[in-house]
Amino acid sequence: MSKQFDVLVIGGGPGGYVAAIRAAQLGFSTACVESAAYDDPKGEVRLGGTCLNVGCIPSKALLQSSEHFENARHGFVMHGISTGEIAIDVKTMIKRKDNIVTQLTGGIRGLFKKHKIALLPGHGRFAGGGGDGWEIDVAGEIVTAKHVVVATGSRPRHLDGIPVDNKLICDNAGALAFDAVPKRLGVIGAGVIGLELGSVWKRLGAQVTILEALPEFLAAADGAIAKEAWKVFTQKQGLDIRLGVKIGKVTTGKKGITLAYEMGDQNHVLECDKLIVSVGRVPNTDGLGGEAVGLRLDERGRVAVDDHCRTNLPNVWAVGDVVRGPMLAHKGMEEGVMVAELIAGQAGHCNYDVIPWVIYTHPEIAWVGKTEEQLQRAGIEYRAGRIPFTANGRALGQGDTTGFVKMLADAKTDQILGVHIIGTNASELISEAVVAMEFQASSEDIARIVHAHPTLSEVMHEAALAVDKRPLHF
Ligand code: FAD
Ligand code: NAI
Repeated sequence: MSKQFDVLVIGGGPGGYVAAIRAAQLGFSTACVESAAYDDPKGEVRLGGTCLNVGCIPSKALLQSSEHFENARHGFVMHGISTGEIAIDVKTMIKRKDNIVTQLTGGIRGLFKKHKIALLPGHGRFAGGGGDGWEIDVAGEIVTAKHVVVATGSRPRHLDGIPVDNKLICDNAGALAFDAVPKRLGVIGAGVIGLELGSVWKRLGAQVTILEALPEFLAAADGAIAKEAWKVFTQKQGLDIRLGVKIGKVTTGKKGITLAYEMGDQNHVLECDKLIVSVGRVPNTDGLGGEAVGLRLDERGRVAVDDHCRTNLPNVWAVGDVVRGPMLAHKGMEEGVMVAELIAGQAGHCNYDVIPWVIYTHPEIAWVGKTEEQLQRAGIEYRAGRIPFTANGRALGQGDTTGFVKMLADAKTDQILGVHIIGTNASELISEAVVAMEFQASSEDIARIVHAHPTLSEVMHEAALAVDKRPLHF
């Protein structure tokens, strides 16, 4: 007799493990299949997926360490603190990052035990069945479940002719585990990973060159934010970002890596000691056995789902990076909750219009809702309020006044349509805008809320007042 579950989740990343926890909370017998060990010293399967093991968490740990290093070298002087000679012990920094990852992935195992979720180690694949019960092959053993949630996530996209060995040429996994600061670091792709990990190694002393195919910098962000970020990253921080490049041949030899590329009709060569390839991610749908049971994919090879993460098959759901929408951990987690609640007959819901984006550079970049350019293209009339951090006492006290908050509100109804921040702690500040937009608040609502003084949040308050052209401190 095969093992039977109400809900079986394939993939133990943020989408999958959250779906499993919520399903178990709702009283379903639940299992989660996970195949990756992510360099676990004992070779045991690890939960947490890309996010905990080789994504969000380790990258933020290294960003924090490198920011401390940068502050000790350059930031403390203005406070009258002299530090003398400063050194970075990369092995200790990486070990700290690894310990955080181990603690968190172990924590998810603990949560699985608490909720009596069966962790089934191995690769999961559809083997047959239908709406009355699906058969899933887990490492050669057939398990059956009434509902299946596909949460197989994504993996880095690699480029033809640029073989990633995660030693010299790395994707995110290798770039989070360098054993020393490379003298010259090349990065292909000025997206989120390129900017975050490029910043880490730049702060620690690497000479960083980022090659980006698009002629525009940070095309997804609001234009004014991208412009300010460009200025700060290239002029103040010395990231060498080259736009509109066409990558050519890459060779490795005794002198390191040689990368040929074209830019503006001219041929160039970049020599570097390590190369990070960060050109986006592809959904994990191969080896899933989906074709055998007729699981439909969309035009970009992702599992095709509706607004409620239902696939074309009865009682088969899919969440996270493997489906449409931004590849973000919090989006996948919310979908996991939604699906478990829908399985339970509840009104599961995910508001795709209000998903925040954060880029954890310094200054941080965060936004939610529409950009000014999107509103213009859609012909929506809006009012904008923009306040710089230089007008904020707390930012001045912190010695960190780069950037601004921009709020966009509907010209007629005043409903907030988008908020865009570049500045210190933008990742935390954006939450106020997310809450406001979730409840369809107006800029006037934010303007009338008491904000503690002195805090960075007062910039949000002032930006709301500025929408109505009545800022008090600018
Ligand atoms: P994943 O996390 O990819 O998990 C899927 C899991 O399924 C994997 O563990 C895989 O081994 C397993 N699996 C796949 N196929 C099978 C199978 N057939 N059988 C069994 N197991 C299988 N997002 C943010 O929101 N904030 C950030 O700061 C952030 N930083 C990032 C930094 C980096 C360097 C990277 C690479 C990503 C970052 N992300 C961030 C994105 C985030 O990691 C992903 O959006 C998130 O992990 C997606 O969750 P998921 O559950 O859909 O998939
Ligand atoms: P990305 O989509 O953010 O950026 C990839 C960049 O590479 C783009 O600017 C693209 O134009 C460029 N590119 C593509 N092909 C190229 C080529 N051949 N030559 C040069 N440039 C090329 O993808 P990235 O940085 O790999 O990150 C993957 C995803 O992981 C992100 O989209 C995001 O969903 C997630 N992530 C989220 C983070 C966060 O929330 N803070 C941090 C890191 C990753």
